[in-house]
Amino acid sequence: MAEINLSFSVNDQKMEVSTEPTRTLLSVLRDDLKLKGAKEACGQGDCGACVVLLDGEAVNSCLVLAVQAEGSQVITVEGLASKGQLHPLQQNFIENWAFQCGYCTAGMLISSYALLMDNPNPNPEEIRAAIAGNLCRCTGYHEIIEAVGKTAADLQQPVLTSES
Ligand code: FES
Ligand code: FES
Repeated sequence: MAEINLSFSVNDQKMEVSTEPTRTLLSVLRDDLKLKGAKEACGQGDCGACVVLLDGEAVNSCLVLAVQAEGSQVITVEGLASKGQLHPLQQNFIENWAFQCGYCTAGMLISSYALLMDNPNPNPEEIRAAIAGNLCRCTGYHEIIEAVGKTAADLQQPVLTSES
């Protein structure tokens, strides 16, 4: 099959790939760009292990064709940390024991990140709704919901400076 050239941004870096038009975004991220954070589990939109942000929307990247990302901005779990510092969500997942095997974690983090972008102060019901498409076979939902709520609370704190 003829390949097509794609250009899009991943974690704020411009990427160019040549791919068959039938391949998924997940496949291109993992196999061509070597970004292995998003996982393939069900491969059919049921589990959320593959969630990434596509132009700010959380999507199951196993259901998105790579060609649909042309010209777009993609954020994967690898893009959450900044300057060697984990994102507060990642830190709170660690501190709250919000994962066991970790297979669902990238998708959980990105779905939670998308929630906090839209709603910086979600209640537990809203957090549950935001991760409803993310399945955890280790059943760590309670800790995950707590970690997201703690992050929201942390991000509400005023930033203290030496002048304060
Ligand atoms: S691998 Fe994409 S939703 Fe399960
Ligand atoms: S931590 Fe194992 S699937 Fe969620």
